[in-house]
Amino acid sequence: MASVSCIVGCSYGDEGKGKIVDFLSQQDFDITVRYQGGDNAGHTVSINNNVFKLNLIPTGILTGKNIAVLTHGVVINLKTLLTEIAYLEKKDITVKDRLFISQNAHLLLSFHAKYDSLIENLNNQESIGTTKKGIGYAYSDKIKRINLQIKDLFDSELCYKKLVVLAEYYNKIFQEYGVPLVNLDEEMAAISHAALQIKPFVCDTNKLLRNAIKKNKKILLEGAQGVLLDIDYGNYPYVTSSSVANFYTNSGLNYLDIANVIGVVKAYSTRVGNGVFVTEIEDESIADKIREKGNEYGTVTGRKRRIGWLDLVALKYAISLCGIKSIAVTLVDVLSVVDRIKVCVDYNYPETMFQDIFNPNNQPIYIEFPGWKEDISQIRNWEDLPNTTKIYLRFIAKFLGVKITHVSVGRQRDDMVVVND
Ligand code: IMP
Repeated sequence: MASVSCIVGCSYGDEGKGKIVDFLSQQDFDITVRYQGGDNAGHTVSINNNVFKLNLIPTGILTGKNIAVLTHGVVINLKTLLTEIAYLEKKDITVKDRLFISQNAHLLLSFHAKYDSLIENLNNQESIGTTKKGIGYAYSDKIKRINLQIKDLFDSELCYKKLVVLAEYYNKIFQEYGVPLVNLDEEMAAISHAALQIKPFVCDTNKLLRNAIKKNKKILLEGAQGVLLDIDYGNYPYVTSSSVANFYTNSGLNYLDIANVIGVVKAYSTRVGNGVFVTEIEDESIADKIREKGNEYGTVTGRKRRIGWLDLVALKYAISLCGIKSIAVTLVDVLSVVDRIKVCVDYNYPETMFQDIFNPNNQPIYIEFPGWKEDISQIRNWEDLPNTTKIYLRFIAKFLGVKITHVSVGRQRDDMVVVND
């Protein structure tokens, strides 16, 4: 029987997936898998008042028992990887025999990040607002079939040959814009040093996961970013460069394996970077209250997140595309700071040839709910939640046609209401 579940963010990322993955991994799962993206993701988990921040290694590693896997769908910045391994070891979280990296994963190299910054700064007003980590350019080189993969690290001749091609390409552009050139020898030295250190973690993760399925191990796939940032389903071009919703090809598992896709929905909306956000809250005093209470600042870049009301139209789109049947609603406690809560249930679409949920001229149609204006962070049972909170959550579930399984009411691992409503 299939024993794989997948967690995906249903909006523009930062839905609090890290906490949900950590909560579920700790209880029900043996293996946690990252299948796309790179160190552009920021997963924050609070355990016993210790805050852990990871950008690349799956948060399941924090359970101290689960195996963590980075598949071929991920782009790997070796520097970040080594920093995170050292960070975990310093916190007495063992990675030996618990972290596995696909031999076929692609590398994100220093010049990818440099190029990302260059392009973002050049375009200025029209920039995507990326994390400047180089994600789009590592994936571009993958698609161009010239990138380095993890396995190439162990063949220094091939590695150097590929680096020469890449360096030549980027140096032409860097030269034109006065950016320091790629130093081949330095790059090669850094790569060789990293190769030695990561060697014990590298394997065929497809085989590892297939064997795990045979042994009835429970696997949790951990999506990074969110469906509305997906390269195919998102608000193109204001998207990330990987497919959040493609949990099959990116993970090495197939559609018969994955039994359950769980969506993570924040009780309100946020977005970092540029692009459409029709439910963005214009009243800065309300947005600021939510931002402060929810600590809505980017984990990777520290940027202020844009704040908006929940957009059920966009969520329904994401949920139907991913086949989501149940959701975890996060940061519900944050809405205690507002008197009234708006929810977008439809758009007035402009007259255009195609109806597009990402048209910036869509006008949101809201309905309003009273707020609960009380601290709910200590509540652990559905029955004990204020009626106003339950009405809000039941409305969301009914509108989206899903079941709510978890309501997160605070930052700590155990600030959670498990729902059997
Ligand atoms: P990139 O992934 O760095 O190329 O950035 C593309 C878009 O995705 C930008 O709008 C980023 O702000 C956004 N983005 C990337 N990673 C995350 C994330 O983990 N959370 C929220 N937004 C993200």
